[in-house]
Amino acid sequence: MNDNRKLIGYIFEFGWILPSVAIPFAVITAIIITAFAVGIRVPSVAGRIEPQALNTTAPFNEPGVKELAPGKYEAVFVAQTWQFTPNQIEIPAGSDVTFIATSRDVIHGFKIVGTPVNMMVVPGQISKLTAHFPKPGIYLLECHEYCGMLHHMMFAKVIVK
Ligand code: CUA
Repeated sequence: MNDNRKLIGYIFEFGWILPSVAIPFAVITAIIITAFAVGIRVPSVAGRIEPQALNTTAPFNEPGVKELAPGKYEAVFVAQTWQFTPNQIEIPAGSDVTFIATSRDVIHGFKIVGTPVNMMVVPGQISKLTAHFPKPGIYLLECHEYCGMLHHMMFAKVIVK
């Protein structure tokens, strides 16, 4: 083989090696940026609960918003086909809200559009995530896990005043 063909071979090989190294680096960089700069948090399992006993088990026996301290709120949601309870909450702008949710029946999603809140709501499991709401507005809380016929109708509102 002459030197020219060898050189072309090296260039082609490098052309494949470069993306296979660069792509994982780009993904890791994206994860670091979303975790530390954008504030995306992976929701953790905050506990277990018996799905049949939600009506008698705190905090899910009283879904809704509670003020824990000035500017700090807790919002408890029950998801079931095809609604969230409550279907609307109101909080003042500048609040930190900890969302606590579980499902009465099947797996649902819990995504608040325009915020880092994005979790799965699983029967038997408590999902928990805290978000900051600096600006007033109406934020759509939607189910983004397919949960049956009226999945697309399953939403609630977070009103920030
Ligand atoms: Cu609940 Cu889709």
